[in-house]
Amino acid sequence: MKRNNKNKIISLDKFIFKALYDPKIGYYSKKKSFGINGDFVTSPNISILFSEIILIWIISFWENLKKPKKINIVEMGAGNGEMIYQIIKSSKMFPQFFKSCNFLIYEKSKSLKNIQQKKLKSYDVSWINKLDNIKTAPTLFIGNEFFDALPIKQFVKINDKWFENYVDISNKEKKIIKVKININKYQKKYGINLTNNQNFIEFSPTTFNIFKLISKVLNKMTGGILIIDYGYIENKMLDTLQSVKNHKYSNYLKNIGHSDITHLINFKLLEKIARKVNLKKNGLTTQRNFLINLGILQRAEIISKNLSFVKKSNIFYRLNRLIDKKQMGELFKVMFISNKKIRFEIGFKND
Ligand SMILES: C[S@@+](CC[C@H](N)C(=O)[O-])C[C@H]1O[C@@H](n2cnc3c(N)ncnc32)[C@H](O)[C@@H]1O
Repeated sequence: MKRNNKNKIISLDKFIFKALYDPKIGYYSKKKSFGINGDFVTSPNISILFSEIILIWIISFWENLKKPKKINIVEMGAGNGEMIYQIIKSSKMFPQFFKSCNFLIYEKSKSLKNIQQKKLKSYDVSWINKLDNIKTAPTLFIGNEFFDALPIKQFVKINDKWFENYVDISNKEKKIIKVKININKYQKKYGINLTNNQNFIEFSPTTFNIFKLISKVLNKMTGGILIIDYGYIENKMLDTLQSVKNHKYSNYLKNIGHSDITHLINFKLLEKIARKVNLKKNGLTTQRNFLINLGILQRAEIISKNLSFVKKSNIFYRLNRLIDKKQMGELFKVMFISNKKIRFEIGFKND
């Protein structure tokens, strides 16, 4: 299709960015998105056990680094702050570790940042606007459902020619239009072969840029990035862009600013990006496997001992949502990426 009015079409990633972060209409700028009354519930808001297990993994990693006197723990996209709140609270039970921690949050949404600041007011936490703006120390980045919230581009091959999806915003009714693109030039810019055996591509330039910054930090100071997100482990790329409103799927071209727009992570592509920026994959497994490997079942038994039947059932009901194969257990994956010198596989073995 020809571009006859340049001002009225925008690339898909720009459209997503606006729909999520525009200061006036953006979803994350105004909506109460989290929890039962929001549009979705994330793992830390389902069960405290989730954050506790993540903490156990973090402490093991810190021990593996030979207990450095200082470590930066950076949560990327902290939502309502629940995960880091529980992590800090439980860290206090491990005084030597707690003393070494420098807790940081990287958050784009102003309204969520306000919520986080209120929730964490009694804890020592700093907010950063730039991922590489941190004190020199080994660093661990953590993102739960962070990368799925970043804008993506979509490319499609039709009759051997590649097109990029743009959004026609001239009318109230928004629609996707296809604009011809020189895909070779585009993939050369990133140094990644995106087109290999594909007829359809989803790629997030924002993710690539974030990985580049993280790599700068990790290669200077050592450390890694723990990614927990929903996605798939296949070379073939899928069309996964989706929108969620009131716990139900909706059309991402409608309800702009009132529904969350996300995509599934292609973990094979993420691994390629990691390699490109001089990092390596240490482990990749399902959320179920990761949490069970780190002892979530035993922890649930311990905390539910001597509780009433109702309370005990509630703990196991929530645990089940996290690890059940038909719920979050298999759709969600956990990946650990680090600088090339690190070997750390705790949580990822026996898959
Ligand atoms: C789906 S929420 C997940 C929140 C939280 N991690 C949880 O598990 O409840 C995505 C989070 O990432 C933040 N976010 C999205 N894009 C971002 C960006 N480019 N930079 C920083 N934060 C971003 C959002 O504002 C939000 O806090």
